[in-house]
Amino acid sequence: MAGFFRRRGEKIRHRGGIWGVYVSEECRGKGVGRTLLTELIGLVQLLPGIEQVALAVSSQNAGAKSLYESLGFKVYGCEKRALKIGNGYVDEELMVLYFRP
Ligand SMILES: CC(C)(COP(=O)(O)OP(=O)(O)OC[C@H]1O[C@@H](n2cnc3c(N)ncnc32)[C@H](O)[C@@H]1OP(=O)(O)O)[C@@H](O)C(=O)NCCC(=O)NCCS
Repeated sequence: MAGFFRRRGEKIRHRGGIWGVYVSEECRGKGVGRTLLTELIGLVQLLPGIEQVALAVSSQNAGAKSLYESLGFKVYGCEKRALKIGNGYVDEELMVLYFRP
């Protein structure tokens, strides 16, 4: 699964976001995640006026981060303590893919 939303305001409707990327454990490492995201990005690019898509990935999630980088996403920031799990925190790297130069 992978979710997509588009921002609504007039000045931000050129931006979209991807969330909830997940491949079930038994299907990982077989190209499903790459295919899913490639298809999704292809569909997103068809939306009139959309210019960029962003996502957040846990700093510890090297596998997902490398998948996103290979698709052209670049890190533009880091949200410290973005997730709270029990008494611990996880930072998230914020990534964006621009469709226009
Ligand atoms: C991240 C996730 C979606 C990848 O899906 P997948 O189907 O296993 O990925 P693919 O088989 O298409 O692999 C694509 C690329 O991801 C990277 N990758 C995936 N798993 C990796 C791992 N464990 N370690 C390092 N790189 C990994 C590789 O760069 C791989 O590149 P390649 O195509 O050149 O081999 C999947 O592991 C998953 O659902 N994980 C749990 C949930 C999660 O972390 N979601 C992301 C939240 S931001």
